[in-house]
Amino acid sequence: MSHFICPVCRTGLLKTEKTYVCENRHSFDIAKQGYVNLLLSSGKGKTHGDDREMISSREDFLNRGFYDELSREVSRLAEKYCPDGGVVLDAGCGECKYTCDARKFLKASGKRADLIGVDISKEALRYAARRTREIELAVASVADIPVADGSVDVMINIFAPFEAAEFSRVLKKGGAIIRVYPLEKHLWELKELVYETPYENPVSDMAEAGFEIAEQLSVRYMMEFKSNEDILSLFKMTPYYYRTSENDRRKLDSAESLSCRAEFGITVYKK
Ligand SMILES: C[S@@+](CC[C@H](N)C(=O)[O-])C[C@H]1O[C@@H](n2cnc3c(N)ncnc32)[C@H](O)[C@@H]1O
Ligand SMILES: [Zn+2]
Repeated sequence: MSHFICPVCRTGLLKTEKTYVCENRHSFDIAKQGYVNLLLSSGKGKTHGDDREMISSREDFLNRGFYDELSREVSRLAEKYCPDGGVVLDAGCGECKYTCDARKFLKASGKRADLIGVDISKEALRYAARRTREIELAVASVADIPVADGSVDVMINIFAPFEAAEFSRVLKKGGAIIRVYPLEKHLWELKELVYETPYENPVSDMAEAGFEIAEQLSVRYMMEFKSNEDILSLFKMTPYYYRTSENDRRKLDSAESLSCRAEFGITVYKK
């Protein structure tokens, strides 16, 4: 059986070569890239979540290694909270950079685990499926995750919407969520280059009803960008790129090097 359930009748899904099918014969084709679309038909034709340009920019940036330090920390925490034989679900997985790294880390540490990823963007899962065939992937919303109640040991949630009630439903009792978000001065020097008056990111105490905070930590380091191409690769994967006027974008044209801080907050919740 798959870890996914049927979005129509919520019974288990069996994965066959080309489809996922439930006992009531609802069936969902596996795309040739290897993911399944479990969004119900009303949502299927539309484009959801990040589009191709955002995703290929993020993929390009992440492949340059600038967020590897964050990824190592996420992998370490996934291993810490995942029991042997556990299930790890990345909610809003994007191209699965962090999920993939966590899988390798768990494997290297001798722990067996099944990894699954959901994202509302089909395009993201196309990239994710190219990265790996070892993670089960479904197009779905984090507000309605197609897995059974209490079936997940660890959730990963990185720069993606957090749906407390739904995450609580899918987590086992004692299960953990590793949530990552930008801290106040994340990418500050990039903002200084582009904007007259850069603003800090708002950060709350991260408390969420129904969860206790098991630990909170930060990952802070300087990223050294040594070419205009690297700087543009960073800029294009941020939301600022899409919100910035042509005039402000131009300010980066002549930048050949940049020291820019990365500052991530990580909150681990326990159910
Ligand atoms: C900033 S990206 C982060 C992706 C990935 N976690 C990473 O850090 O590389 C946010 C992701 O959340 C997805 N997303 C946005 N709203 C969503 C929703 N309601 N359900 C599932 N995914 C969603 C987007 O498609 C996008 O891939
Ligand atoms: Zn069904």
